[in-house]
Amino acid sequence: MSGPPVSLDLDRIGEDVPLLEGLRTARAIRRLRPDPVPAGLVRKVCAAGTFAPSGGNRQPWIFVAVTEPERRAFVAERYRRAFRAYIAPALEAAKDPAFPDAKRRNMNAALHLAEHLHEAPVHLFVAGRKRRGEPQLQALYPCVQNVLLACRAVGLGASLTTVHRAYGDEIDALLGLPPDCPSCALLPIGWPLGRYGRPPRRPVDECLFFERVPADALGRSRHPEA
Ligand SMILES: Cc1cc2nc3c(=O)[nH]c(=O)nc-3n(C[C@H](O)[C@H](O)[C@H](O)COP(=O)(O)O)c2cc1C
Repeated sequence: MSGPPVSLDLDRIGEDVPLLEGLRTARAIRRLRPDPVPAGLVRKVCAAGTFAPSGGNRQPWIFVAVTEPERRAFVAERYRRAFRAYIAPALEAAKDPAFPDAKRRNMNAALHLAEHLHEAPVHLFVAGRKRRGEPQLQALYPCVQNVLLACRAVGLGASLTTVHRAYGDEIDALLGLPPDCPSCALLPIGWPLGRYGRPPRRPVDECLFFERVPADALGRSRHPEA
């Protein structure tokens, strides 16, 4: 799917995508159309998020969907600043012609998102109450992944980002989130410009072991640092 559907049945959209095929093709979609996304569809993907597991079934998630242009510009300006600092070493490394193509493509897509974030029609933040003074990321990321999968099912493009945390306090204040309920992720959501597809991944047989990991299996040459 590459554009907003002409008509949209909120009850039916996304309900027929096979689960495993959907998750195998739910890659980071960072090139988005500026066309608006109906609030009902944002609600539907967040509802999918609420079916995630959480410790003690505490369901700590709070979603904040930002659509107003001035608010998105505020977020995007800070995201861009943080992302440029984050990506600078990789940009330097990418001057080497031997820099791997897949990494280069991923970096360019992430750069595109940073430069165009203000155009993404929905900035969906996932936040959650701290517990014993600590953010409960482990309780929020399953929910985030459910939202990403639901976006895939209904034909929306989305990706998981966290760079905004460099300006987290300022952005959380804009969102009306109190200090004990910080945002952990920003999912820029919109209709995709490109297509879904299988992302490059290591074969499962390189990372699955039964009973015990053989002594030489996790050597640095087989699992170089990112
Ligand atoms: C914890 C976490 C934080 C991430 N933060 C960012 C981010 O700030 N910006 C960004 O463009 N992508 C971010 N990503 C997305 C990854 O770069 C992306 O999942 C990876 O490149 C694989 O993309 P693919 O599924 O299209 O292959 C993040 C992913 C994770 C799991």
